[in-house]
Amino acid sequence: MQSGKRYHIVTFGCQMNESDTEVLDGILESLGYEPAVTKEEADLLVLVTCAVRKKAEDKVAAFLGRLRRWKEEKRGRILAVGGCMSQQEEMASYIKKNFRHVDIIFGTDSLYRFPQLMEETMESRKTVVDIDIQEGVKREGQPVNRKSSFHAWVPIIYGCNNFCSYCIVPYVRGREKSRTFEDVVEEVKALGNKGYREVTLLGQNVDAYGKDLPDNVNLASLMEELNRVEGIQRLRFLTSHPRDFNENIIKAVSGLSKVCEHVHLPLQAGSNRILKKMNRGYTRQHYLGLIDLIRNYVEGVAITTDIIVGYPGETKEEFEETMELVERIRFDAAYTFVYSPRQGTPAAREKDNIPKEVKKERIQKLIERQKEIGLEINRQLEGQLVEVLVEGISRENSSMLTGRTRTNKLAHFPGSPGLEGEAAHIRIKEAKTWHLQGELEYTKGQKLKAGVLE
Ligand code: 5AD
Ligand code: SF4
Repeated sequence: MQSGKRYHIVTFGCQMNESDTEVLDGILESLGYEPAVTKEEADLLVLVTCAVRKKAEDKVAAFLGRLRRWKEEKRGRILAVGGCMSQQEEMASYIKKNFRHVDIIFGTDSLYRFPQLMEETMESRKTVVDIDIQEGVKREGQPVNRKSSFHAWVPIIYGCNNFCSYCIVPYVRGREKSRTFEDVVEEVKALGNKGYREVTLLGQNVDAYGKDLPDNVNLASLMEELNRVEGIQRLRFLTSHPRDFNENIIKAVSGLSKVCEHVHLPLQAGSNRILKKMNRGYTRQHYLGLIDLIRNYVEGVAITTDIIVGYPGETKEEFEETMELVERIRFDAAYTFVYSPRQGTPAAREKDNIPKEVKKERIQKLIERQKEIGLEINRQLEGQLVEVLVEGISRENSSMLTGRTRTNKLAHFPGSPGLEGEAAHIRIKEAKTWHLQGELEYTKGQKLKAGVLE
């Protein structure tokens, strides 16, 4: 037990890393460490890193460089680097060699062995490296310290079997491993009992849930069961894959009252040749068919996506095919990325023959057009009454509250604190590209005046 010692965790990357951080947080508290708000107050600093693009890794490397001072400032401080970046063998060696002030280098799986790694480094005073991947899901029985008291990330499947040609994830997170149906249901029931209102089911590919389990279960049947859990008001799932996404899941979104009307369906590219080179396993026609199906079943649904531009060999015409789909589909939002070669992936062996300026031009064009489309879609909500789950006080303005619609749009509105975690109805006054502005009308079915319960 560590009494009086304090820890701080800095997390990079996706929601799976956020979720891993909550587990690590729980582990550290169970070791007797107390949370520190800033790294300056901490004796133990842990970075949970991302490897999906080079930019993410560069950010961590720059940060590690700056942490030399942090380490020297106080004797006995421990610095640990975990997550997807350090899971790669060559990266683990790079960190060990270039950042000698790092004490622990651990991977996505060895997170669960963190207490032993701490012990080892404290005893040996040497850098400990553990990036082994072991079969099976280790989350069960681990303490989890959730950041929010009303929204919870619940991983349902780890890893990915898809091996998209550009992606590092299957190499760092291993093969698909579903948690059992019972474990997930039990966790969500416990969350409902504790007052949690919203659950996001997580996985690199949630649509593959259950494929590796002996029972005949899948994402749709899981959501059907979770829809019955008392206390939970909203269910979300992230991320889908167009190869596995199907009518059953769409029916769950349309038919189950708690499943929110939002689908995140990464397109990646609009050209069939590029999709094939990416090993995505679907065509633009198949993708368009899914979009039609979603929109036929689910009224008012929001569809968001991920798009990569500048994949090796992408021609001007092929990029225009992506633009054409963006135009035709009209996504609510798109996360857009310039292709980034990842060592060890098949795409990294191809010649990255597109000049930087061309990539920049393409992404700029895509971002600009998508911004216009997103704003046009959001404007249709002006004047409408929408339900938001209140997340808290707005970061920019303390007299404003922030919430999310069922379609996952951020909304700001004037109101007093104390509504956090409550469902409220707001009238949309003005739509912006990235958020909505509104006024509170009721919460818990009661009329409100200027954000105060009458
Ligand atoms: N380069 C650029 N973007 C990438 N993504 C994954 N790997 C790469 C890469 N090598 C994007 C994909 C994915 C999102 C999480 O990150 O669009 O859906
Ligand atoms: Fe990467 Fe493709 Fe798996 Fe997504 S589906 S994590 S892009 S390999």
